Amino acid sequence: MRATLTVLPGDGIGPEVTAQAEKLLATVEKVFSHEFHLSTGLIGGAALDVLGTPLPDETLNLCLHSDAVLLGAVGGPKWEELPGNRRPEVGLLELRKGLGVFANLRPIRVWTELSAASPLKPGVLAGTDMVIVRELTGGLYFGVPRERRREGGELAVVDTLHYTEREMERLIRLGFAMAQDRRGKLTSVDKANVLESSRMWREVVQRIAHEFPEVQVQHMLVDSAAMQLVLNPRQFDVIVTENLFGDILSDEAATLTGSIGMLPSASLGEKGPGLYEPIHGSAPDIAGLNLANPLATLLSVAMLLRHSLKLNREAEAVEQAVMSTIRSGYRTRDLTDSEQPWIGTQEMGDKVCRFLREEV
Ligand code: IPM
Ligand code: MG
Repeated sequence: MRATLTVLPGDGIGPEVTAQAEKLLATVEKVFSHEFHLSTGLIGGAALDVLGTPLPDETLNLCLHSDAVLLGAVGGPKWEELPGNRRPEVGLLELRKGLGVFANLRPIRVWTELSAASPLKPGVLAGTDMVIVRELTGGLYFGVPRERRREGGELAVVDTLHYTEREMERLIRLGFAMAQDRRGKLTSVDKANVLESSRMWREVVQRIAHEFPEVQVQHMLVDSAAMQLVLNPRQFDVIVTENLFGDILSDEAATLTGSIGMLPSASLGEKGPGLYEPIHGSAPDIAGLNLANPLATLLSVAMLLRHSLKLNREAEAVEQAVMSTIRSGYRTRDLTDSEQPWIGTQEMGDKVCRFLREEV
């Protein structure tokens, strides 16, 4: 197959981890005889530095004309003082909006070999396997007005939590469909005891539930969900929730697995290219030091192969190669305690490529 892919390295450790993804894609091309045409674009701080904007038009156009987009990370202390509308993160939000990728899938899986790195007791952690389906292009992230204003003599501020019914429906329906394909359990997370938006969300969930009679639905308040994630993570199959709640809960859930450096994500729309990125951020403190864990990005490549290119066998082979790398004892620094030896970002990328070549 031929595919056109856009890689957006971004900031911090982004370029290092996407470089490993490019190596992996080249290996997949060779091993499975595909042809991937890769282009690279600027986003985030890297784009601000060169072009003065966090999402240049040419980057968005490049992405819109691709089969899929792979992103490293955006942001860093260098750009922290910039006004809200010119921060690197705005580039990512505009890209999500521009691609219409309303559904963010964040699979949280525990790697038994890495369970020592988890803050949870092994007995609590064992068997944890969930997907967080997060709404990605609505809610507080995009609502207007969002501004500071004078009220009387005082400074005040407003952010807006806005959703249309259609925005809720399409995301919730996708959550149900995923639950149906998995273990048949959907947990919808909201704050319906306080927020009107959450009460409407709950109604939409209840209505769509009729389309999926075999899925068992549960409503959970977000504060309680935050607690249940550490008390009994095994209970969750698919969690469906709005943008901000999903952002917060997915970092919490990611940490359960030992390292946020292991977790991939896929952002999908109704049509058009999907956006794939590791959940971790730009980690400026370790940028350029060959210390970053590239596995979240390599697993994001597996999601890209599966969801955007429909290459299931290739996706599984990549996941298997990552598994073999871990099983063989290779670790980046984030996955070790101080005693264990570790290898660098590039070496980890090389190991996964080697296992892929050897195992297929
Ligand atoms: C994420 C990140 C982003 C978000 C930031 C970088 C804007 O935290 O993808 O979870 O909040 O969506
Ligand atoms: Mg986040």
